[in-house]
This record gives sequence, structure tokens and C-alpha cells, in this order.
Amino acid sequence: MDDPKRMPTGIEGLDELCGGGLVRNKSYLLSGITGSGKSIFALQFLYNGATKYDESGILITTEEHPRQVRENALNFGWDLKALEDENKLIIIDACAAKLGIPSQEKYVDIRPFDTRSMIDQVITAQERIDAKRAVIDSTTSIGFYLQDPAKIRVELLRLSSTLKIIGLTSLLTCEIVDEDKISRFGVEGFMTDGVIVVHYKKTGAVRVHSIEVLKMRGSEHSNKTHPLDITSKGVVTHPREEIY
Ligand SMILES: Nc1ncnc2c1ncn2[C@@H]1O[C@H](COP(=O)(O)OP(=O)(O)O)[C@@H](O)[C@H]1O
Ligand SMILES: [Mg+2]
Repeated sequence: MDDPKRMPTGIEGLDELCGGGLVRNKSYLLSGITGSGKSIFALQFLYNGATKYDESGILITTEEHPRQVRENALNFGWDLKALEDENKLIIIDACAAKLGIPSQEKYVDIRPFDTRSMIDQVITAQERIDAKRAVIDSTTSIGFYLQDPAKIRVELLRLSSTLKIIGLTSLLTCEIVDEDKISRFGVEGFMTDGVIVVHYKKTGAVRVHSIEVLKMRGSEHSNKTHPLDITSKGVVTHPREEIY
């Protein structure tokens, strides 16, 4: 039976790893090195929400231009433009202003490092499409701007708390450089209710993707590391297999 407190990600295998889905109205850190699959994973969470569960979503993109995001999504057969036209997805461009270039986008965060302005944008977007899901990809560029870990902690906490209060379940991506650390600035894990790590480890001559649910408040979850594949349909996890 469907648990109303759970939000299925629809990502094959993942919901099984964490008791049926994410706990609703909570925020999760999605950490991994570059190329580990964070952006695809996060986008798939929004895409599945809109197409499988009738839950609209908001994507705040700080590093990739929305046009690039739409193009990349098409590689997986995800037509984001169609979802945007149906009011099932809003993409907020928090990238152009950061680069100092003009944006043709409908939703633009002109102060991409100001969490208050970001929150205002999210609230506007949510009112427009009654969103249930949100993704910030990524928190790392916000951190680089703020620099001071204490400030990063306060601002990201403010951001993640607001998302929860307004009824959004969110994934906040975090780009790490060291596989042994779960966050870039050492503080991002404190402000979220859960931490999911996508590993991309070198074994011999190749790198292998895997996934680990490290923390999940209010829920049981697997404490093992499971294989993850990136396929032409997005990410797939294998709850019955383990990686040592
Ligand atoms: N069409 C595809 N088929 C299979 N794997 C892909 C495809 N597109 C991208 N990938 C894999 O996804 C990785 C990039 O994922 P991405 O979510 O952008 O990573 P991150 O955001 O963590 O840097 C690539 O390094 C590649 O391994
Ligand atoms: Mg990315």
C-alpha cells in the first residue's frame, strides 16, 4: 500500500533502499564527485514526479544553463519543455546572472547567490504550479560564493528549512572532490534530513557508479553500498546487489 508520508522517487531500486521512498517535506543532500550522476539523478526525481505521480517540480540550476539541461535531458527521452508547457515543471535560471550574461528564460534568479532571493523565486514558482518537489543543482556554487563555512551553514539551513516549510521535498546536490568526504565545505550534511552519496570509484582501469544512503531521518534505510547504472533511461540502482 502507498504510504502518504513517502514520496517515491520512481528511480528503479532506490525506493526499496529507503523504506518506500523519501520522507515527504524533508530535504536531502545528494553528494558525489563530478560525473557521478548527481544532475541526472536529481532531474529524474523531478521528471518521474511530473510524469508518474502527478507532482510538479522546480529546478534551480546554478551551474548549467536551462537550455543545456533541456538538451541533456533529451538524451534520456525526457522532454522537459513539454512538462514546462503543462505547468508540471519550472526551471529557474540561477546560472546566467552568475556568469553576467543575459537570460531569455522566463524564470531567472538575478541574484543567484542570495538565498533570500532564491527563496522568493521558489515561492513564486510553487504558487504557480503547486509544486511538491524541488532540486537545487548545485549548492556548491553557493558555498563558493559565501566561502565562510559558518555562513554557508546558516544560509543553506535557511534554504532547506524554507523548502520544507512550504511543503517541498527537495534534493540539494553537492559536488565533492574527495570521495572520503560527504560534502565540499564540511557543513552541508548538517542542514539536511538525509544524505545520499553517489560514488564514482576507480576499480582497476574503470570507474564504477554506486549509491549509498548515508542518513535518513525518520526512516530505515539500507546501510550498504549498491551498484548504480546510468542507462539511456536514466539511473537504475540494484538493491539486491552490494559493492564492498
Ligand atoms: N546517455 C548516457 N548514457 C549513459 N551514461 C551517461 C549518459 N549521459 C551521461 N552519462 C553518464 O553520466 C555522467 C554525468 O552525469 P551527471 O549527472 O551530469 O554528473 P554530475 O552532475 O554528478 O557531475 C557521465 O559522466 C556519464 O558517466
Ligand atoms: Mg551536475
